[in-house]
Amino acid sequence: MSTFQPTPTKPWWASAVIYQIYPRSFADANGDGMGDLSGISGKLEYLAALGINAIWLSPFYLSPQADAGYDVADYRRVDPLFGDLQDFDEMLSKAHSLGLRVIVDLVPNHTSDEHAWFQEALASPSGSPARDRYMFRDGRGIDGVEPPNNWRSIFGGGAWTRVTENGVPGQWYLHLFDTKQPDLNWENPEVHAEMESVLRFWLDRGVDGFRVDVAHGMVKAAGLPDWEGQTAMVSGDETNTLASQSPAHQQKPAMDPPSPFFDQDGVHEIYRAWNRVLKEYDGDRMLVAEAWVEQPERLALYVRPDEMQQAFNFDFLLAGWDAQRMAAAVDNSLLANAAVGAPATWVLSNHDTVRHTSRFGLLDPTAFPKGISAEDEQPDEALGLARARAATLLMFALPGSAYVYQGEELGLPEHTTLEAAFRQDPSFFRTNGVERGRDGCRVPLPWKASEPGYGFSSGTPKEGGHAAPWLPQPPSFAHYAADTEAGVAGSTVELYRSALEVRAAHALGVGTHAWAPQHDPGAGVVAFSNGPITVLVNAGSVPLDLPPAAEVVLASTLDSVSQGKLAPNSAVWIAS
Ligand code: GLC
Repeated sequence: MSTFQPTPTKPWWASAVIYQIYPRSFADANGDGMGDLSGISGKLEYLAALGINAIWLSPFYLSPQADAGYDVADYRRVDPLFGDLQDFDEMLSKAHSLGLRVIVDLVPNHTSDEHAWFQEALASPSGSPARDRYMFRDGRGIDGVEPPNNWRSIFGGGAWTRVTENGVPGQWYLHLFDTKQPDLNWENPEVHAEMESVLRFWLDRGVDGFRVDVAHGMVKAAGLPDWEGQTAMVSGDETNTLASQSPAHQQKPAMDPPSPFFDQDGVHEIYRAWNRVLKEYDGDRMLVAEAWVEQPERLALYVRPDEMQQAFNFDFLLAGWDAQRMAAAVDNSLLANAAVGAPATWVLSNHDTVRHTSRFGLLDPTAFPKGISAEDEQPDEALGLARARAATLLMFALPGSAYVYQGEELGLPEHTTLEAAFRQDPSFFRTNGVERGRDGCRVPLPWKASEPGYGFSSGTPKEGGHAAPWLPQPPSFAHYAADTEAGVAGSTVELYRSALEVRAAHALGVGTHAWAPQHDPGAGVVAFSNGPITVLVNAGSVPLDLPPAAEVVLASTLDSVSQGKLAPNSAVWIAS
C-alpha cells in the first residue's frame, strides 16, 4: 500500500526536495570505514524526519572504484563494499514505507575498463563487434603513434589511451574521464538496448527514477574533429569551459566552435527512447540530467515533455553568494523551464563541488575552486555558514524541486586541509595536484560528536574497533555532528527541518515566484514572494529594513533580525 501523499495536479518530482546520498560517506553499518546500503537503511528515519521527499544514491554498483564508483563494471550488481541486492531491496522498501522515493545513478557515457564488454573488446581485433561498443580508433602519424585527435580528458591529460594488440601497440580508445572509464559508442544499437535493459532492471525492482551521469556527453560529433577548447566538468575560471554558462558569464559568446563531445543534438533521441521506457511503469518515474551545457535554453531541451523530467540547475549552483548572479540564475531558469513546461530545479552543492558553506566564505564568494588544500586561501567558516543558511532559505522558497547534498543540513564545511596522501580523486593525480580534487566534499558524515570517526561507523566493531573512515574527518566536524545539532534551536539541521515544514505546509514547491518590491540585486537584496511567504535575502553589506510589523516566519540565524532590520549575510521568510 502506498504511503505517498497524493499530488493531485503535479507529479511528485515537480516539487520534491531530493537528498543526495554519497554511499561511501553517508553511514557505515559494518564497521569497515566505508559507507554502505545498510548504513543508509539505518538513517532513513532521520531523513524522513528532516522533511525531504526523496533520496538519490550515487553509484553503489560493482566497480574497481577508480572514480569512486562512476566507473561501473556491472550495472546489475551491488559492489560488495556497499552490500548486496538484498540490502538494496530492503533499503528501497523501507524508504518507500517512510514515504521517501528513491533515485539511483545511471552512468551511461562510459563503463569501467573492467566491465566484461571492455575486456572482450581488448581481446578482440580492431573492427570487431566487441570493439564497436566503445570508441576505438587508429592513431595518427607514422605507425599510429599519435592519438586520433587532440581531445583532453576532463580530469586532465589526454582523452585517448593506446592498447596493446598481440604484444605490439594497437588502436586507441576514447575516455573523456579517466583511462579506466572508456566511453561507450552510442552509435551502436547494442549499447542502446543494453542501457534500456539496465533501466528496466532497476525499474522492475521499484526505483522511482535515475540521475543520468554526463547526460550531455554520450553522442560525439561525426568524424571526432579536433577541438581547441579546454573542457572542465565544472569550472569557475574564465577559460572556455562548460561553466561559462553561469549568468555572470552570459555576456560571453557561446563556445566557438562548440564542443564536439558535449551537448550534441543526437543525445535527445536517447532520452525520448528512455522516456518511453519509463512510461511503461506506473508511479511517475523520472530522469534527472546531469548536463553541464552552455545556455539555459539548451539545458531546457533536456526537459521537453517527451524527454527527461528534470535537469540540475548548475547555473544556480555557480552563481555563488552574489545577489545579481543569484537573481539572474533564478530568472533565467524559471524562464527557460517555463518555455518547455518543466518545473525548475535548484541545487547548491554536490559530490563534485566544493561545499557552498566553504565557497561562500572565500574572499570572492562567487569563486569556484576545484578543491581546496592547506596551501590555498582558507574560507571564513562562520561567514560561509551564515551565507549558506541564507541561501538555503532562498532555495527552499523557490517553486520547483530542490536538491540537498548530504551533510549540508548540518552546515558541514569542505575539508580544506586534507593531506595529499589521503586524496583519491583521479583529477588530483591527472593534473599533478594542480586541481586539488573533490575529496574534500566527500568526507564521511559526523553523526555522533563523542565517538571515534564521529559515529560514522556503527555495527559490531571488528577486533580492535571500527576501521577509520575512508577519508579522515577534520576536527571541526565535532561541532557539526548530527547529535549535537538535533533539537537545538538555531542549529542548521533545525533550520532545514523548519524550512521544509513551512515549504510543505504552504506547498511552495508548486507555488508561483514573483519578485517583491524590495528586490534590488544591485544593492545586494534578493526578494520575492511565493504564495503566503516573502523571502528577503541580504547579500549586501548594510542592514536591510523589514516592512513595518513584518511577521517573521523563519530567519536564517537566531540573530539575523533585530530591531526591524535584517543583518547582512542573512535571509528571512516573512508572511506576505
Ligand atoms: C559525473 C559525476 C562525477 C564523475 C563523472 C564521470 O560528472 O558526477 O562524479 O566523476 O561524471 O562519471
